[in-house]
Amino acid sequence: MNTLAAPNYKRIYVWEMPVRLFHWVNALCITVLIVTGYLIGHPLTLFRSPEAYQQYWFGTVRFIHFAFAYLFLFNFLMRLYWSFVGNRFANWRTFLPLKKVQRHDLMDVLTVDILQIKEKGKISLGHNMLAGLSYFCLFLVGIFQILTGFGLYAAMSKSWFAGLFAWVVPLFGSDGVTRVWHHGAMWFFIVFIVVHIYIVFYHDYVEGRGTASSIVGGWKFEREDRIKPDSF
Ligand code: HEM
Ligand code: HEM
Repeated sequence: MNTLAAPNYKRIYVWEMPVRLFHWVNALCITVLIVTGYLIGHPLTLFRSPEAYQQYWFGTVRFIHFAFAYLFLFNFLMRLYWSFVGNRFANWRTFLPLKKVQRHDLMDVLTVDILQIKEKGKISLGHNMLAGLSYFCLFLVGIFQILTGFGLYAAMSKSWFAGLFAWVVPLFGSDGVTRVWHHGAMWFFIVFIVVHIYIVFYHDYVEGRGTASSIVGGWKFEREDRIKPDSF
């Protein structure tokens, strides 16, 4: 047997277009919401004019925050729909360790990649189970931001849609308390982004099968000798 022969790789279409579109629109929205949200919480004194009426930059920042808030919500709803009609890699079940095999996958990621006490484990084609769980947490915090954000917005908007969330602020007690929670949750997104981007490039390098570019083109590459019948 020629042990030096390079393994053959098969090109597998994993992330469908709606998943990729959701990913980048979501990444853009979260980035813009963090920057504008941070500015709302800590306004700069950089752009000052002698008279308040001569400037409107803070209003523009708030407008951008609210516009991207709507985009963030509708993009999320689109992904929710796609988790029921998309391919098996996009399915809602990939985000939760419901089956025994998924819990086994979770242990593999923890022991191999995180604790590094085991050398080799299963390499998933779609999300690995720990990644899936981290996305599920991101979706939950996203819903929390939508509830508290539209709750705050209800008092400053005439739109019937924002009005649907008028019950949120009384639930938290006051506008101030709701803002503190809304502000605090921003840090979850910041930590997620740092860890997520690091891990994507780590997997890309260690596994060498195009993880990072898969969320652009949709394709991953798998060694033919590792493909199992249920890999597709
Ligand atoms: C604001 C920044 C980002 C956020 C909030 C974010 C969020 C997410 C989410 C929620 C998913 C799950 C997608 C789904 O199933 O619908 C995901 C997957 C993915 N993201 Fe990101 N992402 C960000 C930036 C990036 C960047 C810069 C890259 C680099 C190429 C990247 C690469 C990937 C890849 C490759 C996957 C699929 C990974 C897997 O196999 O589990 N992401 N991301
Ligand atoms: C990733 C999601 C989001 C992040 C990271 C985020 C972040 C922030 C931050 C840090 C603040 C400043 C809070 C403070 O210290 O006073 C803020 C304010 C606010 N956000 Fe968000 N936000 C997000 C989503 C949303 C959504 C979906 C809405 C829905 C409309 C929204 C509406 C608001 C409102 C109304 C304010 C108060 C504006 C003001 O009083 O001038 N946010 N946001």
